Amino acid sequence: PKPNIAPTPPMGWNSWNKFACNVSEQLLRQQADAMAASGMKDAGYQYIVIDDCWQKSRDADGNIQADPERFPSGIKALADYVHSKGLKFGLYSDAGALTCAGRPGSAGHEFQDARQYAKWGVDYLKYDWCHTGPRNPEAAYTIMAKALRESGRDIVLSICEWGDHQPVRWAPPVGHLWRTTPDIGDLWDNKEPWPLGVVNILDRQAELWPYASPNAWNDPDMLEVGNGGMTTTEYESHFSLWAMMAAPLIAGNDMSRMDADTARILTNKDVIAVDQDPLGKPGRRTVKEGDLEVWVRPLQGGEFAAVLFNRGKAPTDMKLTWGHLGLPADCKVDVKDLWSKKVTKGVSGSYAGKVAPHGVIMVRITPVR
Ligand code: DGJ
Repeated sequence: PKPNIAPTPPMGWNSWNKFACNVSEQLLRQQADAMAASGMKDAGYQYIVIDDCWQKSRDADGNIQADPERFPSGIKALADYVHSKGLKFGLYSDAGALTCAGRPGSAGHEFQDARQYAKWGVDYLKYDWCHTGPRNPEAAYTIMAKALRESGRDIVLSICEWGDHQPVRWAPPVGHLWRTTPDIGDLWDNKEPWPLGVVNILDRQAELWPYASPNAWNDPDMLEVGNGGMTTTEYESHFSLWAMMAAPLIAGNDMSRMDADTARILTNKDVIAVDQDPLGKPGRRTVKEGDLEVWVRPLQGGEFAAVLFNRGKAPTDMKLTWGHLGLPADCKVDVKDLWSKKVTKGVSGSYAGKVAPHGVIMVRITPVR
């Protein structure tokens, strides 16, 4: 079986959304320093993951080689540096002959690569799906999962197949997380097929909540918070909804230059606690009336998280009723607003508020005993 190393959704940072192919050991060290110093590590982020373009070629024995210009000290030294900060280290490969950016993939080299990753000290592998030809994804990912298990090191397997081959049907016993959609972009809504906006991803994943559980998470792709293409309100909604979906929280911004809002959003401990709730049950959309949605997530110990979400253009009064939670109307609860931090004690029946355009009200509901 898979090692029990993602009992809650993985939290970390990945180079792709902000830096694409511009990766180097200086960049990765700088991001590791920033994660440790900026409050991100304290908030629970731990993986530093290099995405595509770290690889260059294979040597005569088929061993994968890092790009010597971008990583002159080698991957082992970088992994050691990340570990010295009390963080974990992740790499990227691909189930095809080539990665999406045309670097060597792992097809036919799975066991050799997994042994190499273990020697380097890799803790997390994102495994992509470009240039795979006729390969069957379940079979291909099962081989890498076996190779990682036999490598002698606990390595999280992040399946990056984009949801085209219904990964919820085969990925749960194979990987710790699997992508459910094509790539996210730093945008709110995009009618084109690629990249997807926040609401497009939300709609594609809304019905997949039954398939996730500890060590087996739906992955609606990495965060765009702080990359500049959305408003602060939209980034708060993005982060809130990813927490409601029990999504892996993989930051995709430049952690060394975070403005106050970006840091405040990414390190909101109350929202992160919802994402990381040990019960491990994702939330679901319980109401969808035009632009207005109510999302509810059951938490350990009989608590709930709820989001009132306004996709429309005008501020709108919205109401959470205890019926949405499956509680009797006369049940008394304490309500904490997870963005304003306001606590309202002993509420019964419902909780209402005005929700900003593209905004959320996100609350934690604690029944009073
Ligand atoms: C496609 C993936 O979905 C992205 O997240 C990123 O890993 C790129 N490939 C890298 O080429």
